[in-house]
Amino acid sequence: MTEMEHPAVLELEQVVKKYPVSGGELTAVNGVSITVRQGETVAIVGESGCGKSTLVRMTAGIEPVTEGRIRVLGKEVSSPGKQLSRQEWQKLRREVQLVLQNPSGAVSPRMRIGRFMREPFVNWHLCSRGEMDSKIEALLERVELDTTVLGKFPHQLSGGELQRVVIARALAVSPSLLICDEPTSALDVSVQAQVIDLLERLRREQGMAMLFISHDLALMGNFADRIVVMYLGNIVEELPASQLRQAVHPYTKALLDAVFQIGKKDFSVLDGDPPGPLQMPAGCPFYSRCPVSSSACERTPVPMREYGNGHRAACLKVKESVPVSH
Ligand SMILES: Nc1ncnc2c1ncn2[C@@H]1O[C@H](COP(=O)(O)OP(=O)(O)O)[C@@H](O)[C@H]1O
Ligand SMILES: [Mg+2]
Repeated sequence: MTEMEHPAVLELEQVVKKYPVSGGELTAVNGVSITVRQGETVAIVGESGCGKSTLVRMTAGIEPVTEGRIRVLGKEVSSPGKQLSRQEWQKLRREVQLVLQNPSGAVSPRMRIGRFMREPFVNWHLCSRGEMDSKIEALLERVELDTTVLGKFPHQLSGGELQRVVIARALAVSPSLLICDEPTSALDVSVQAQVIDLLERLRREQGMAMLFISHDLALMGNFADRIVVMYLGNIVEELPASQLRQAVHPYTKALLDAVFQIGKKDFSVLDGDPPGPLQMPAGCPFYSRCPVSSSACERTPVPMREYGNGHRAACLKVKESVPVSH
């Protein structure tokens, strides 16, 4: 994949987010750089509290960054002390659509689905009134729903159906980037796979970029092009999904071990607790739970090393790094 063929849709450059809290400052995101190119699916994976949703909110212009820069389609949407005006966002918002964990939060409980689906067409003047119904019908077809949902209220649909409606509406504006923040974790296990299959098919058909937030590394290994692993606000490793088994960071490896131990598909197999986000360690954030850490890891800031083919990791214990060749 070359830069010439695939322009960047989203660029995060050394993004930091700090929240003032009683007793100090909480660092939710600590110097994160990610690029998502046209047509590419990038998954951000990590435990609860590692800063995934904070990244999403900054990218969607809901919150400003504390440090660093975020660009969407080359346009800066957030840098310290500066956010886009409402009008500027209005233009860009169309390009970045969100699908969040809980679909019922996206639809007003008193609004019929039909009105919810018409909103983007009206707001952005996407087509004439006469064309609207057939466009909406086509969108519903793409998410495998029929038009009977249009007369219903949100509570009359299942969680899976409602999430399909939210996805259909997000697609109405043909976004350049679809951000999905744990879109299946509030749904019944039985429908989670269906929604993932649907998103997989849509991303192939639509050719849009996708930023997919998940805590399920194994699932993302099959779904994404690239995987970014976060721990306590930091990227610890980034690699092509096809090379997941070649992960080098002890945290990624621990996640993989957890996944491939049948019946232990959660992260509790890791020993120890993450340090509180109020005390960001000077060295490696994973130090306190790492099976191979030494005292140097605690004190020394860990540089990101390149392992070729877009694989990078921040671990002092992994020696065989290779310089990037361009
Ligand atoms: N508005 C806020 N004020 C203070 N702390 C916050 C706020 N939003 C998130 N945090 C904290 O930032 C960290 C990252 O949270 P979040 O981005 O929601 O993680 P994730 O989505 O990975 O579970 C957590 O420690 C969380 O408690
Ligand atoms: Mg979250």
